[in-house]
Amino acid sequence: MKTYIVGNWKLNFTVGESSIYLHKLLKSLPNYRDTEVVVAPSLIALQPLSLQIDRHKVKLAAQNGFYRDYGAFTGEVSFSQLRGLVDYAIIGHSERRYILREDDKMVAKKVAAAIRNKVTPILCIGETESERAFGETADVIRDQLIGGLSEVADDDLHKVIIAYEPVWAISSTKAAKIATPDEISEVVKMIRKVLGETYGEKPAENVPILFGGSVNASNAGAYLTVPGVNGLLIGGSSLILNEFTDIIETAKRVRA
Ligand code: 13P
Repeated sequence: MKTYIVGNWKLNFTVGESSIYLHKLLKSLPNYRDTEVVVAPSLIALQPLSLQIDRHKVKLAAQNGFYRDYGAFTGEVSFSQLRGLVDYAIIGHSERRYILREDDKMVAKKVAAAIRNKVTPILCIGETESERAFGETADVIRDQLIGGLSEVADDDLHKVIIAYEPVWAISSTKAAKIATPDEISEVVKMIRKVLGETYGEKPAENVPILFGGSVNASNAGAYLTVPGVNGLLIGGSSLILNEFTDIIETAKRVRA
């Protein structure tokens, strides 16, 4: 399986800054066959960046997309409009769940819309600090996974990527903590178990699972060697070019 290194730029960089960053990133990267490098810029930058990108080196992801393809939905952008511009889309990120009140039902419709439009969904799931403290992690993971995948046909499971992002480990979260490889390993096992029970063991094994939460160049190696982890979803550190390229180099080294 490929290793995925995905940079989520969140609400950062103007279109010009995004273009300069991409230019430098493309210059610094050789073609990586086994490492899929992806960046998720702001929506407004996707169109110009799609003309600039060399897809052999880097792919584009949207940070969101709407679940209907067209119609009276002021302010929304659909996956049918994103189709062809991006290869991936981050869906159900905790910032959208908790700040913008997206629930599993909406997340499920977005996952289905992405697949329908040939965009690979990166479905984000993860427990909050209090859910973990109350011993609810397994339930939250199960609910978000089954809920988010509820509109995916069995045959389409291989079109989905899961990202485990414990909300308490995301750097913008107040007093973010660093997740340990053991904590991550335990949840990745839960995810594969739920997928296995729902879709069968073999299809479950083939779903890429990424980890996200305060990943940087110093801890990327440890996270990438957690059994069952197939890549990383990186926020803050992906905004610093050297840090991001160091993580890509680490991925190439540890997973060679
Ligand atoms: P940080 O890497 O800044 O903790 O963000 C993680 C994240 O939310 C990526 O989607």
